[in-house]
Amino acid sequence: MASGITRLKDKVAIVTGAAQGIGRALAMRLAEEGAKVAVCDIQEDVANRTADEIRAAGGAARAVRLDVTSLDSATAAVAMVERDLGPLEILVNNAGWDKLEPFIESAPETWDKVIAINFRGVLNCCKASVPRLIEHGRGKIVSIASDAGRVGSLGEAVYSGCKGGIIAFSKTLARELARNSINVNVVCPGPTDTALLRGVMESRPKVLEAMQRGIPLRRLGKPEDLAGAVAFFASPDADFATGQVISVSGGLTMAG
Ligand SMILES: NC(=O)c1ccc[n+]([C@@H]2O[C@H](COP(=O)([O-])OP(=O)(O)OC[C@H]3O[C@@H](n4cnc5c(N)ncnc54)[C@H](O)[C@@H]3O)[C@@H](O)[C@H]2O)c1
Repeated sequence: MASGITRLKDKVAIVTGAAQGIGRALAMRLAEEGAKVAVCDIQEDVANRTADEIRAAGGAARAVRLDVTSLDSATAAVAMVERDLGPLEILVNNAGWDKLEPFIESAPETWDKVIAINFRGVLNCCKASVPRLIEHGRGKIVSIASDAGRVGSLGEAVYSGCKGGIIAFSKTLARELARNSINVNVVCPGPTDTALLRGVMESRPKVLEAMQRGIPLRRLGKPEDLAGAVAFFASPDADFATGQVISVSGGLTMAG
């Protein structure tokens, strides 16, 4: 396949929310580097198409239905992945969702959905996967947070809280799992051209323009822009990096 790098050869990886957008690009990249990828999503038909594309490009993949809001679903997905692909080594927590609105106008039902997918989803997938990684004596967990979780973002209060929560959770998990040779790291996209961004910005074209002007590298991210950082953290090249957070957002966030 295209990249020519094979540092993930035969490693089994789960990517959540991998049917489309950033997750799809991450799944493609991990497969390019040799991983056997479980394309996990609630949209099973779209996940199947993505897995087909990966196989057509010479990679190894299978689609798995996974609703990250359910621990039972995550546990069943991990069991299926291990049965069909082999011992799990890499978990990429990517599934996410948001609704843009001022906090004071937001309904608790929306908070519940945002928290269930963005924060609880990461907890569920870690809870289902970590015992397997411990059993195998190694593992890499990479979670997709957001610059919103580092510096806040107008209209995304609860989402930002979840993404900040992912960062703090990951640092703690990194400390707890270091003795098991399991690395836990976080990659933060900024505004990235996907269905999610188009959806939340549909009625706010001016906000989208202002966002792009605020990005030092002067463009929205593309899903593929995130892939290198995630592949790095998923690989043996990152064996000595844990509890780290990196923004891949065109310089939008330059945290110390
Ligand atoms: N696009 C951006 O501007 C941006 C910016 C910062 C962070 N992010 C983060 O990047 C990640 C990917 O976002 P994207 O822009 O590619 O979004 P997207 O909407 O294009 O894709 C998200 C995927 O997650 C899946 N998903 C949703 N709920 C799920 C659930 N309960 N269980 C399993 N899968 C589920 C969807 O079916 C979809 O395939 C998210 O965590 C998002 O918060 C995106």
